[in-house]
Amino acid sequence: MSAYIADQTWPDEARRLNALERALDESTCRHLVRVGVSAGMRCLEIGAGSGSIARWFSRTVGPTGQVTATDLDTTLLEALPGECANVRVLREDISESVRLVGEGFDVVHARLVLGHVAQPERALTNIIQVLRKGGVALIEDADFLWSDVGEQPLYPASAALAYFPVWRAAVDYMHRRGYAVHWGRQLAAAMRSAGFEDVSGEAVILIGDRALQGSMALTIKRFAPALLQEGSVDQSAIDACLAALEDHPGTTFTGSPVFSVRGRRSR
Ligand SMILES: C[S@@+](CC[C@H](N)C(=O)[O-])C[C@H]1O[C@@H](n2cnc3c(N)ncnc32)[C@H](O)[C@@H]1O
Repeated sequence: MSAYIADQTWPDEARRLNALERALDESTCRHLVRVGVSAGMRCLEIGAGSGSIARWFSRTVGPTGQVTATDLDTTLLEALPGECANVRVLREDISESVRLVGEGFDVVHARLVLGHVAQPERALTNIIQVLRKGGVALIEDADFLWSDVGEQPLYPASAALAYFPVWRAAVDYMHRRGYAVHWGRQLAAAMRSAGFEDVSGEAVILIGDRALQGSMALTIKRFAPALLQEGSVDQSAIDACLAALEDHPGTTFTGSPVFSVRGRRSR
């Protein structure tokens, strides 16, 4: 069973997920259009979170299509089937469950999910098995590239000085708790090893995106109690980091790359 580090018990988790959706949906939908999502298709959204992509699938496949939205915790998805007649919601752990094998989905999508899974390779094998032959998976995962380099582009420089040490402590914390902070760069090779064919993709770095900057502030707030408890940063460092992210009107934030990789099931 997966132990997800950012579960929905945190009161602001819906706000954090909504900010991520506002930042990332445009790019994701562009990729899904390129993959060929269209009316009448059967689509699976894994780790659907707050459900914006499941809603997009619902509108795009229309009444003749079907959408399945899964998550470890489906609390934020409960309203979906009432809103969209072609959507069903299932509580599923993608690293364990193969309940959907044989469903023959045309398209499967998972964003910012596999990096959290203890055995992402096994999850990829499960994903192949729920696709129809010829079906396509689009998998998207971040890569905390800047934590290696020792800085994250955030201007002015004073904002970066306040932001980066706390972000670095948060990355280390997430890594120790099982999050694969560099999974994005490994994704294409892992998909090939899992048996996907025609594997290709691209990575996007958002620059100056206020929604992404807001989601980062919420991520820092979410992990702040744990960082304070382990003593890796103190309250004044966290306050300075949040002020740099939230309050500085001239701050320009450059996000971590998000890798979007597609692959086809051929057999
Ligand atoms: C960072 S959120 C991303 C949510 C959504 N995919 C998005 O990009 O807006 C990660 C989501 O994956 C779910 N999740 C984590 N581990 C999972 C697993 N093993 N199986 C299914 N869902 C999982 C979490 O509950 C959470 O909703």
